[in-house]
Amino acid sequence: MKGFTPCLSVICAALLLATVTGTKLNVPRLRLSYKDLLSTNRSSIFSGHHGQLSLTAVFLDEYRDRLFLGGKDVLYSLLLGPTSSESKEIYWPPLPGNREDCIQTGKEPQTECANFVRLLQPYNRTHLLACGTGAFQPMCAFISVGHRGEHVFTMDPLNVENGRGKVPHDPSFPFASTFSGGELYTGLTADFLGRDSVIFRSMGGRSTMRTETDQKLLHDPKFIAAHLIPDNDDRDNDKVYFFFTEKATEAGDREGAIHTRVGRVCANDVGGQRVLVNKWSTFIKARLVCSVPGPHGIDTHFNQLEDVFLLRTKDERNPDVYAVFSTISNVFQGFAVCVYRMADIREAFNGPFAHKEGPDYQWGAYEGRVPYPRPGVCPSKITNQPGKEFGSTKDFPDSVLQFARSHPLMWRPVFPALRQPVLVKANIPYKLKQIVVDRVEAEDGHYDVMFIGTDVGTVLKVIALHSGNSLETEEVTLEELQVFKVPTPITSLDISVKRQALYVGSPAGVAQVKLHRCETYGKACAECCLARDPYCAWDGSSCSRYVPNSKRRFRRQDIRHGNPAVQCVDQNLSDLDVTEDKMVYGTENNSTFLECVPRSPQASVSWLVQRDDRKDEVKLDDRVMSTDQGLLFRRLFHQDEGVYICRSREHGFTQTLARLTLQVLPGETVDELMARDNAGLSDSFKDRSGGSYRAWMPCSSYSRGASSSQMSQSRSWFKDIIQLIGPSNLPHVEDYCERMWCNDKLRRKHKSMLEKYRQAQESARKARSKSSGERNRTPRDLRAQEGY
Ligand SMILES: *[C@@H]1O[C@H](CO)[C@@H](O)[C@H](O)[C@H]1NC(C)=O
Ligand SMILES: *[C@@H]1O[C@H](CO)[C@@H](O)[C@H](O)[C@H]1NC(C)=O
Ligand SMILES: *[C@@H]1O[C@H](CO)[C@@H](O)[C@H](O)[C@H]1NC(C)=O
Ligand SMILES: *[C@@H]1O[C@H](CO)[C@@H](O)[C@H](O)[C@H]1NC(C)=O
Ligand SMILES: *[C@@H]1O[C@H](CO)[C@@H](O)[C@H](O)[C@H]1NC(C)=O
Repeated sequence: MKGFTPCLSVICAALLLATVTGTKLNVPRLRLSYKDLLSTNRSSIFSGHHGQLSLTAVFLDEYRDRLFLGGKDVLYSLLLGPTSSESKEIYWPPLPGNREDCIQTGKEPQTECANFVRLLQPYNRTHLLACGTGAFQPMCAFISVGHRGEHVFTMDPLNVENGRGKVPHDPSFPFASTFSGGELYTGLTADFLGRDSVIFRSMGGRSTMRTETDQKLLHDPKFIAAHLIPDNDDRDNDKVYFFFTEKATEAGDREGAIHTRVGRVCANDVGGQRVLVNKWSTFIKARLVCSVPGPHGIDTHFNQLEDVFLLRTKDERNPDVYAVFSTISNVFQGFAVCVYRMADIREAFNGPFAHKEGPDYQWGAYEGRVPYPRPGVCPSKITNQPGKEFGSTKDFPDSVLQFARSHPLMWRPVFPALRQPVLVKANIPYKLKQIVVDRVEAEDGHYDVMFIGTDVGTVLKVIALHSGNSLETEEVTLEELQVFKVPTPITSLDISVKRQALYVGSPAGVAQVKLHRCETYGKACAECCLARDPYCAWDGSSCSRYVPNSKRRFRRQDIRHGNPAVQCVDQNLSDLDVTEDKMVYGTENNSTFLECVPRSPQASVSWLVQRDDRKDEVKLDDRVMSTDQGLLFRRLFHQDEGVYICRSREHGFTQTLARLTLQVLPGETVDELMARDNAGLSDSFKDRSGGSYRAWMPCSSYSRGASSSQMSQSRSWFKDIIQLIGPSNLPHVEDYCERMWCNDKLRRKHKSMLEKYRQAQESARKARSKSSGERNRTPRDLRAQEGY
């Protein structure tokens, strides 16, 4: 297909719309196509040994330098060494007979009745735990992966265990898991019909734990993530947190309202003695709020959780919780990223419990006496003191257990840091699906660089800047990376800080993408500075990776303001301006297009025209329009001739991008030449143009070396532009495109045609000057005088 994409057609339409209406969306500073990423070695893709790898699970093993993948009936191990790209495969189909049974029950053979690997977790020093749906009969196995340094990858297909409660039966059902202390924590639906929503703990020595079946505890939950986060140095206080959405019982009448929750259990919860036997006795949950103030004081809430990333810091008890949310309604589709502090989450859990006296009462904070030990508190040194000996949840009084089962929800929600999202995107033509975050040291402090995966195969690299003390955040999209060739949803994102790489998973495969490639921003200080990429700085001669605390004297970086006038004042700015002139021809009374695309879509473009040593700004109107891709003349006049200078401006920094000399050919001359010289034209072109060629534009850079499919892609883009410009021009669109993306043969043709035209002009001039006795005029003066 379509390797080359000037921009995705959907995105394209939105951008063009923005241009036409005069507003600029928050567009990325740099947009890199699939081809750009491959050709610069920024990205490489693995799609399995047999083409399509229906990727469903990823485990990045930084210790062993390996990437483990699970797909449909298959497991892979990839070595991540700097040079090697070795991969090993294990074929892992459902157990004999299970595929057939699954098909018998009416399930889809291709998309349901296979073994879709959903879980890959490190088990011990030599083995991974892998679980798959096994054609609606979940199963698990241990995979021998060897010690660090060896590339072992084997599985005993006979040594397979029942995977019920470990992964869902249905490959499409949401699921979250974490493995800790030899035990597996999962949030899932654990039955064939997908109705039994539970939080499970299995494996290890202790008996299996689960949530009671009660909508108060979990109401149609969609589990997104699970993580063990310690509270303090006492391991007895370790808690496992689950992030999910569920139907919001407390939302009252609003049918179908969903809320995002953070729920938790104590890792040492072993259930109650008489009540809650083998059921969680410490489960509590709170609402995670992510909202922006709206008009009339009504907040817009982003209720649907899409993904969670724990940004771990040196303090393992206090990671920052990054979460992507969506809201989808008839009038509004929006996405937001909110960041939560563990302190705020703990505070909500330490606050009042939500309570409802009876069916006809309002929800409120529980104001009665809370039994001791307070539900949600783990049995530990604190609860296990003389006089109050609760060494295990089995020692908890029944009153505590009864309270816990009737009051799982906290009254106070958890608000994000600064009480607002760090990023909001509304009415964009794609969805935000996945997030990972890297905390990057820069010249003036650290920045959290977010990598956000979309449903169209792209990854956005974004930073959010806080201006001074104000609450306002400015989001800067540094790059938009088209990681996959075709639009496909990103289903996993993993980051290796060690390798400075991102592992991007989608049904089409997994891509390794470098977090940065500073050279891409350009060869000048100003370009490097305008990029505002915390990974990069100007080192005096190139844009390169910024290394903190390095001894290099010359480091220029300005993430906060991106102001090259300050940063690059002593640098050679004239390097940036183009000096090369290009010729462009158009036909009188017809349309033509002067292409000029700034490297950064955030830059604004202005056009100057130079005639007789005078430079003027190009007057824009219905006839002459500035678009994101260049200057469009809908109807060309002879007086439009001149040298057109395209200049870009970004953060007060101006640069000349193109100098184009426009020549206007009178229509009849070309017609005449065409009629005389028609034989050499390609038949297909003749057919379409009706045998007469009226207007011509040189093949622009788009057509150089472009395949026909690339051309058709560009063509459809060009159609978009014309459609937006006005329906009156629609009939000419095909012609336009034909001329825009003309082939080499045509180009040569036109060259010779033009040559003939020039010769004709020249001889006419000679003849005239002979007869009139005038000598010193250039052809240009002549034409001007004759009123062409
Ligand atoms: C990409 O990698 C290949 C093989 O390692 C190398 O030959 C090529 O020069 C690299 N290209 C760029 C642009 O770095
Ligand atoms: C890891 O677990 C597997 C499966 O239980 C077992 O066969 C293996 O011996 C264990 N390895 C170590 C180093 O404990
Ligand atoms: C700046 O760049 C221009 C064009 O490359 C060059 O002619 C000029 O000598 C350079 N000036 C300095 C001070 O390096
Ligand atoms: C301009 O080009 C279009 C499409 O080739 C053609 O139909 C039209 O007649 C041309 N106009 C003039 C005035 O040459
Ligand atoms: C261009 O259009 C103008 C006005 O319609 C007309 O007078 C002129 O003859 C046209 N020129 C050509 C070359 O078609």
